[in-house]
Amino acid sequence: MAFHCQILLQLVLSHALLILIFSGLISTRVTVHGFSIKEANVDDLQLAFQQNKLTSRQLVEFYLGEISRLNPLVHGVIEVNPDALYQADKADGERKAKAPGWLSELHGIPVLVKDNIATKDKLNTTAGSSALLGSVVPRDAGVVKRLRDAGVVILGKASLTEWSDSRSLTLPDGWSARGGPGLNPYVLSASPCGSSSGSAISVAANMVAVSLGTETRASMICPANANSVVAIKPTVGLTSRAGIIPISLRQDSIGPICRTVSDAVYVLEAIVGFDENDAEATKQASKFIPHGGYKQFLKPDGLKGKRLGITRIPFLNYPSGSVVPNTNGCNLEINNIHVILNVNQSGEATALVAELKLALNSYLKDLVVSPVRSLAEVIAFNKKFSDLMTKSLEEYGQGIFLVAERTKGIGPVEKAALLNLQKLSRDGFEKLMIDNELDAVVTPGADFAQACHLASALGD
Ligand SMILES: *[C@@H]1O[C@H](CO)[C@@H](O)[C@H](O)[C@H]1NC(C)=O
Ligand SMILES: *[C@@H]1O[C@H](CO)[C@@H](O)[C@H](O)[C@H]1NC(C)=O
Repeated sequence: MAFHCQILLQLVLSHALLILIFSGLISTRVTVHGFSIKEANVDDLQLAFQQNKLTSRQLVEFYLGEISRLNPLVHGVIEVNPDALYQADKADGERKAKAPGWLSELHGIPVLVKDNIATKDKLNTTAGSSALLGSVVPRDAGVVKRLRDAGVVILGKASLTEWSDSRSLTLPDGWSARGGPGLNPYVLSASPCGSSSGSAISVAANMVAVSLGTETRASMICPANANSVVAIKPTVGLTSRAGIIPISLRQDSIGPICRTVSDAVYVLEAIVGFDENDAEATKQASKFIPHGGYKQFLKPDGLKGKRLGITRIPFLNYPSGSVVPNTNGCNLEINNIHVILNVNQSGEATALVAELKLALNSYLKDLVVSPVRSLAEVIAFNKKFSDLMTKSLEEYGQGIFLVAERTKGIGPVEKAALLNLQKLSRDGFEKLMIDNELDAVVTPGADFAQACHLASALGD
């Protein structure tokens, strides 16, 4: 299990290279007391706080300005927190009262959370769907509670592919009925990927410093890759799933999407750990949190002596006739990779639709108030209101929801599918790592995330 996390940190490092390239292109400067906020990372912001060059209030005001300027174009944010300035003032007061060193790295830093992560405040938690408008969550999600304890400012809710892309196969990446079409700020015509699109769009466009996303199948790694930012997809259970509008308790995970590796590590450090509302999984995974936390690994030579693998097929295919670089025999392959990448052949689709119905029904039942109490009621809502709200709602359909509604729990077919997934993982990604004694795999793009998420999901 330990190596699953390492591999994702490795993916992260490949994005870090992209960040260096892009930050060189951005010349606009917005300054307060001679300090440039735009592109500043968490360390820069904390230093500016300490040197009295910046307050949390000024930082929140800057981001609110950027949201009103840019969000009508890129649609990364669904809602802004009416209490954000109040929380910023509170953080500014606490900073004055405490000696430096007593506050966490994230104290006073604005955070945007994906709209499928519950916040018990004035913000709605809807997964982008109007069906959940007006619903009242029982409590903050476990990860949100941890962020509040660290002293962050909850800036608002990030847009997403509606229902984290579990509604239909035809939804455009980044689109939701409430959020509109999320766009990639670097190339507006390019996909922002999903489903944590708004989290990645918003940090890439400097509408917020750091954000949270969730992943079931590449839903953080893919938008991070598409928007040239950093994501860490934790092993399932390392971060609490309590209060997340779910897809599959076997595969769902919550993690940071930020502009730099160190910012992502600060957020990871703040959100991991045991949560009584997701007790079994978080207790199991807590064992793998390194003694002394993750920050100690933030060092320039951290990869020294590590053994890295490259899997060429199908992640690194060169067109025929190319001069293929010599990779010193580092030419690994994952067994059955084409089956693993096909949700229908692997059995993943069979498992996911049955798990979706169970998990979503349970989330909806636990809400204090809600217009919909089951997947069946969400489907009925979509049918009834599609014309009133947006034409797209009807146009994009709800094919996955309809298939999920027809399932009847985890029966023999689903059990066989789950066993097959376990076998594919054991003979595939896990075997690759163990046989080759790898610490990590280096890969371009985000497709590889789909090959290792089965392993991280099975608790072994
Ligand atoms: C939450 O949704 C309601 C509509 O049901 C809306 O009036 C309210 O402004 C929303 N909250 C925020 C913080 O946007
Ligand atoms: C899986 O099956 C669905 C429904 O038949 C189909 O629409 C989809 O394209 C298939 N996916 C893959 C990867 O083959």
